Amino acid sequence: MPKYTLTINQKKFNVQTDAGTPLLWVLRDNLGLTGTKYGCGEGICGCCTIHVDGKAERSCTLNVEDIGESPITTIEGLAENPDHPIFKKWIDLEVSQCGYCQPGQIMTLAAMLEQNASRKEIDDAMDSVLCRCGTYHRIKKAVDELAEEKL
Ligand code: FES
Ligand code: FES
Repeated sequence: MPKYTLTINQKKFNVQTDAGTPLLWVLRDNLGLTGTKYGCGEGICGCCTIHVDGKAERSCTLNVEDIGESPITTIEGLAENPDHPIFKKWIDLEVSQCGYCQPGQIMTLAAMLEQNASRKEIDDAMDSVLCRCGTYHRIKKAVDELAEEKL
């Protein structure tokens, strides 16, 4: 099996796996980074969202051999700063219910805010991340307040 060196959360990881392995499985199974969740496996639900080169990407649709030297950030990387404004807002507004979709929600929003996306771009991106618990109204309130604070 081929070997890959990935840069994840500013650390280098060596993994050996089949070339067609989705990045999601490398993160979860090879590296134990289980904060990134599996939902649909088809790029639809968004719960596997991570950052690649600072952009929100669905890790279930990326093959490990296509990552190259692009830096990856997972929810564990974002959580290295527990004072991150998104985490604080999520806690203040008690956004989460079961929590399963929340890494994808937070990683999607973080990428959009870091890119200074327009409000429409933020809303479009967030609309594409599904929540079976229906926390959308609390997510929207959090997004409203964070967008207003212009992070
Ligand atoms: S598990 Fe990747 S988009 Fe649903
Ligand atoms: S909080 Fe349960 S799926 Fe979103």
